[in-house]
Amino acid sequence: MQDRTRILHLTDLHLRHALAGTAKRPERLSREMPAVLGRLAGRIDALAADVVVISGDLLDIPDEYIDGTNTDPDWRAETAAASVADYRLFRDLLENLGRPFVAVPGNHDVPDLFDTAFADQTPLRDVAGLRFVCFRDDLNGDRAPVRGAESRALFETALADGVDGPPQIHVQHYMIDPPTFAQWRYHYTDADWYRDRINASGCVRAVLSGHYHPGSHLVSDTGVHYSVPPAFCSAPHPFRLVDVGPLGVLGIADRSMDND
Ligand SMILES: [Fe+2]
Repeated sequence: MQDRTRILHLTDLHLRHALAGTAKRPERLSREMPAVLGRLAGRIDALAADVVVISGDLLDIPDEYIDGTNTDPDWRAETAAASVADYRLFRDLLENLGRPFVAVPGNHDVPDLFDTAFADQTPLRDVAGLRFVCFRDDLNGDRAPVRGAESRALFETALADGVDGPPQIHVQHYMIDPPTFAQWRYHYTDADWYRDRINASGCVRAVLSGHYHPGSHLVSDTGVHYSVPPAFCSAPHPFRLVDVGPLGVLGIADRSMDND
């Protein structure tokens, strides 16, 4: 790999454009997201990003659609069509950045609808000398993040390549470390097990997540960075630059669209 690969990591955009209304929480500026992403395109060269990572909640699809409580077939068809239109818009906005990108869905996304625009987002992707391992996980009935059999198999496959493969960046919506509770649990039910495996792996350089909107950053005693940028949907629209070298993360810097 090159001496330094710079990841521009943004998360939790909660975009709505064709979708009606805005996110339930007023600080999530769903309808401003297309314009803010447009502004980011104007800064991408100055930011010197090699690859863009988006760790879920690209859209803010209504809860009533996702949890099935609104069963009206016309409303469901309309909402699905608007979501597809918004995923295509999101993809256009990402293409406009002119950098390769890595995206996973979050709990406000619908994977099948996400795939209408992002079917090329395969679980293992080598970009700019790094191996991006992209997990799609879920919330259980108690709103706790859980990793299913498919994700666990992907995790084992990725770690089996170990230090012989390219340095790995794991991308997922939910958190592994630190254990984080606010109104809900934000880390996986079996996060400790993943944390111990990752920290001992010698091949995972960073774990990039979203979901916890205030953001977080922790470095393990083996040098693995667990990073959650504050949610991009809220002013000042923060994001992170993560510089990765062959032996690990070289540095992390917080930036925002409105302040710097
Ligand atoms: Fe979110």
